[in-house]
Order: sequence, then C-alpha cells, then structure tokens
Amino acid sequence: MTELDPQLMQQVRARFAYVDTCPFQGSRIFFENAGGALTLNSVVETSTKFAAIPDNQGRDNVASHGLVDTINKAKSDAADLFGASSGQFFVGESGTELLFRLVRNAATAAKAGGVILGSTIEHPATRSAAQHWAENTNRPYVSVPHDNETGLSRAENYAKYVTPDTRVACILHASPVTGMGMDVAAIAAAIRAVSPECYIVVDGVQNAAHGTLDIDSYDVDGYAISPYKMFSRHGYGFAWVSDRFMHAPHEQLIGGPETAWEFGTRDTGSYATFSDVVSYLDWLGAQTAPSENRRERLIGAGKAILAHEKALCDAMIQGIGNLSGLADMTDVEIIGGLDNPNRKGMVSFRIKGRASAEIVTALNERGIRTHTRKADHYSGNVLDPLGWSDCVRVSMCHYNTMDEVRSFLTAMTEISDL
Ligand SMILES: Cc1ncc(COP(=O)(O)O)c(C=O)c1O
Repeated sequence: MTELDPQLMQQVRARFAYVDTCPFQGSRIFFENAGGALTLNSVVETSTKFAAIPDNQGRDNVASHGLVDTINKAKSDAADLFGASSGQFFVGESGTELLFRLVRNAATAAKAGGVILGSTIEHPATRSAAQHWAENTNRPYVSVPHDNETGLSRAENYAKYVTPDTRVACILHASPVTGMGMDVAAIAAAIRAVSPECYIVVDGVQNAAHGTLDIDSYDVDGYAISPYKMFSRHGYGFAWVSDRFMHAPHEQLIGGPETAWEFGTRDTGSYATFSDVVSYLDWLGAQTAPSENRRERLIGAGKAILAHEKALCDAMIQGIGNLSGLADMTDVEIIGGLDNPNRKGMVSFRIKGRASAEIVTALNERGIRTHTRKADHYSGNVLDPLGWSDCVRVSMCHYNTMDEVRSFLTAMTEISDL
C-alpha cells in the first residue's frame, strides 16, 4: 500500500479545518505542516466546549469530577498512542518548555560530575537546554556531529562519543530541517551500552505526526511533543517521563505528591483535544488496518501515514507522469539525497544561486504555502555545514494529496526555468 485510497482521503480531509483555504489568503495548498499541522475539526469543537467551563480540578463536585475524568482518559489514550505501559504523561506550556524541564530535571537528578551529550542535528530546544544545564551543573557539553549526507545522527555517531560518565543525553526523533527520522531505540541502546544509568531525553516534536510511536521499545526517560504539530492546537506541550525519572528528585510543590510532574492548574481542554487526536488516529487505523485491538489500529494508522507521505515525497522528488520532479530541475539540490529511507513527509531544497525566500514567495503567489529556513539559530546547525545560507522547506502530512504535489511541481517548473 502506498497512497491513501481517494475515498478515504476525502473522509480524512473532511475532518480537518482549513484543509484547502486560509482565512487570510483564500484558496491555498498547505505544505507548511512542520510549522504547525492542520487542526482537527473535533479539536476546534472540544476547545470551545472546555473554554466555557469555569470549574477547577480536584473539587468534590460533579463538574470537577468530570474534568478529572477527562484528564485521566487523555492520559490513558496517550499511553495507547505512545505505546507506553509505564511512566507518566503531563502537559506544559510548549514543546520547548517541556524539553527544557526534562533536561533541567535530568541534569539535577543525575549523579554529580560527568558530561551531558547531544548531537548537532538537534533543534535548539534540547541543544540550548543541554548546554545551559551543562554549564550550570559544571559539566562539559559533548556534541555528536551528524551526518551531512543523510541529514541524520545514527547510533554509530553516538557510540563514538558516549562515555561511562555520560549523565544526560538528548536525541532528536525527527529533524524539522532535514525531515529525516532517527532510530531512537538504536541510539538509546548505544548510549546505555556504555552508560546504563544515563538519563535520555527525546525531542519527539517533529516526529509525532509522521508514523508510529513506541515508547516501550525506546528505553528512554523523557519524551516531549507539541500537539499543534500533531493535529491538535497551540497552547500546550505534552510530555512523558519513565518510572525511574518520575520517582527521581524533581521540581515540585513542597508537600505535594512525590511523583507529580504537573505544574499548577491544567487546561482540561488541552487534554481533551489530545483525546480527539487519538480518536482520529484510531478511526484512521480502523480504515487502513482493521483490528479489535486499539494499539494495533493506532500502529496501522501510523504505517498508512508513513506510506502515503513516502509516496508524496517520492513523487515530489522524482516527478509524476510527464511532470518533472525536483531532481530533474536545473540546479536543484535536496537535503539528505534523492532516495533517503529515513525521510518523513519533508523535502528541503534550494536552487543553487537563487534566494530561497524568492522561491517561497513565488510559490505563495501560486497559492502554495511553504517556508524558508535560514542558517540562523534554528537551522544553521544543518545549513552551515552544507555551506547553504537557506533552503525551501516543503513539509507534508498524510492529508496532502498527489494533486497538490502536481500543482507544486507545475509551479516549480515555471519558477525554476527548468
Ligand atoms: C524538533 C522540534 N523541537 C522543538 C520544537 C519547538 O516546539 P514548540 O514550538 O512547541 O516549543 C520544534 C518546533 O518546530 C521542533 O520542530
């Protein structure tokens, strides 16, 4: 199976808000999913419903019990989606804030001394947190160089740098610049082989919308995502900590439950919208991989998503029918190569000698939204070693269609002077 069936695609698209129009621009194709994925209609409805409820959690009244039930249901839904049979889920302000919290608490919970390890492929959320807390806990920060050719950090790369005194290590699950997914389980195994007690924190923000999650198989301690990049909405981040990390000394209210990781009054609506995401993926799995078992349906949905995205990326790079792909266009260069099996819904490219911003504007004028990544503090870690000052990032999700890729290639044929 590759592309989603056209009838199913119609049903998928009907479930999302602003799938082909923008309230500011009108008709448009949305290839800016790494900046924020489309929002489920159910998430919009649920947000409105919960925004109107005045009650707080933890009271002995029927509304309060209802709110707590909603939160507990969302945590159980998240356990199914993430494939986590232990540990704890909690919400925070954003992906960045949660990753800082995970790294900070790992750095202070770990035995004194040693080093903090990260990789040059990481988003600045974990790179900044790890460097800040290395400095503030008097530890060197060690950086594993990623592989320019593939846009990845691999277990072999980490194995060269991990030492028995590595106290905290960060892993990026998928890059929002190269679009490549890392093998988290293999990297974690390489770290644990040398430093078994290391706290391992994973940035899952870019990966979350692109395939399956399987926390139980990763052997890590912390994992964070941003629900606005996974069909929910802005305003909260979602994290998981392992049993070990949950019980380790961490920031919390004095006298509060020892294992609590939540900070203050939660927005019940954010939890409720996370349940909407899981319900949606469950429905998608029921269409693509029917099973009596919910986890199996969720895995099936992830596989169908990845297969569809691969079909879109391959078409964008290699062309469709008579339409040339990016690979055929003069002076086009693609990050991570033309046939990278780790690619997850994203194609980042440049036309040598042309400003990427100019291409993004030309695409915008043709109703196609993409994004320029510059060699700044967000993307310089990937672009600088390539010697690129910028690139065009085309980021897709499973609700994007082959017709949209055709429109993109038609536009690029004009823009690139093929
Ligand atoms: C890999 C990665 N990590 C962290 C973040 C930051 O997430 P947030 O915007 O929720 O702070 C992003 C945002 O795009 C990201 O792609």
